[in-house]
Amino acid sequence: MKVLILGATGLLGKALVREWNGDEVLAMGSQDVDIRDAARVQEVVRNSSPEWVVLAAAYTDVDGCENHQDLAFAVNRDGAVNVAEAVSRSRARLIFLSSDYVFDGRKTSPYDVDDPRNPQSVYGRSKAEAETRLLETVPDCSIARTSWVFGVGGKCFPDTILRLARNRSTLDVVNDQRGCPTYTVDLARAIIQLCRKNARGIVHVTNSGDCSWFEFAQALLTRAGLTTEVRPARSQQMARPAPRPAYSVLSATSLDRYGIEMPGWKDALSRYLEERGS
Ligand SMILES: NC(=O)c1ccc[n+]([C@@H]2O[C@H](COP(=O)([O-])OP(=O)(O)OC[C@H]3O[C@@H](n4cnc5c(N)ncnc54)[C@H](OP(=O)(O)O)[C@@H]3O)[C@@H](O)[C@H]2O)c1
Repeated sequence: MKVLILGATGLLGKALVREWNGDEVLAMGSQDVDIRDAARVQEVVRNSSPEWVVLAAAYTDVDGCENHQDLAFAVNRDGAVNVAEAVSRSRARLIFLSSDYVFDGRKTSPYDVDDPRNPQSVYGRSKAEAETRLLETVPDCSIARTSWVFGVGGKCFPDTILRLARNRSTLDVVNDQRGCPTYTVDLARAIIQLCRKNARGIVHVTNSGDCSWFEFAQALLTRAGLTTEVRPARSQQMARPAPRPAYSVLSATSLDRYGIEMPGWKDALSRYLEERGS
């Protein structure tokens, strides 16, 4: 099988490239193809003629998206549509990475794939609109929604907490947002399986179990052997440009259908620390 990974230089992309063995993998970052350039996207998909295109490229700075709305929609929605149009003119299948932030967070039980989207942030809107447009353009595409992604090789929550913990005796971390942390290695392995199993439609892919950011930070520091005190805070106290859903736990039911079981997030956290070497 030949696979084209767009966004291969990102946090998830790097894990996908490392984990994807036994198939021919073409890995591209924004220097190789800017997904805003429809003609270039067409050229790359035509010339590489892959069986699968994994679209992990995105403008992922959730707060940055609030201030750079045009860029958010140009990359996350219109760029994704460019890829979908190129795919629709080829024999390739498409899997698109989306986000728990397409939901408003008002539910109190895990979100199912067909729960209505109601994004609260520009980033969430750009991903939600991309989902709708992609399903129209390539009806047999697969959309893998994930959340709270962490891994080695880029900026992520545990990396920030570990860096701050080295210089501070206390850290305030929000305790009123709940979600599912997801390790890039486990996410990459699940995506590879989904492609091999010919997935189509929306699927939720996260590590199992859920927590608040506060609980996530506590578990991290305990495992890292750091004694920095973590204090629970409210989102209101930590004003950020983009609103985040209070609850964005994603149901694993859609993944069960493919016989894919995700490890728990605490186990993933321990493996992350091992991979990180600290
Ligand atoms: N991180 C999370 O917590 C999270 C949560 C839910 C969903 N997701 C989704 O998961 C996917 C992967 O996220 P990630 O955390 O791995 O992202 P990331 O580390 O920020 O990487 C983003 C990737 O997108 C590429 N990119 C950005 N703008 C581009 C453009 N205009 N044209 C082509 N490529 C472009 C970057 O390329 P260069 O580095 O070469 O510029 C990089 O390879 C994204 O779709 C994201 O929305 C992430």
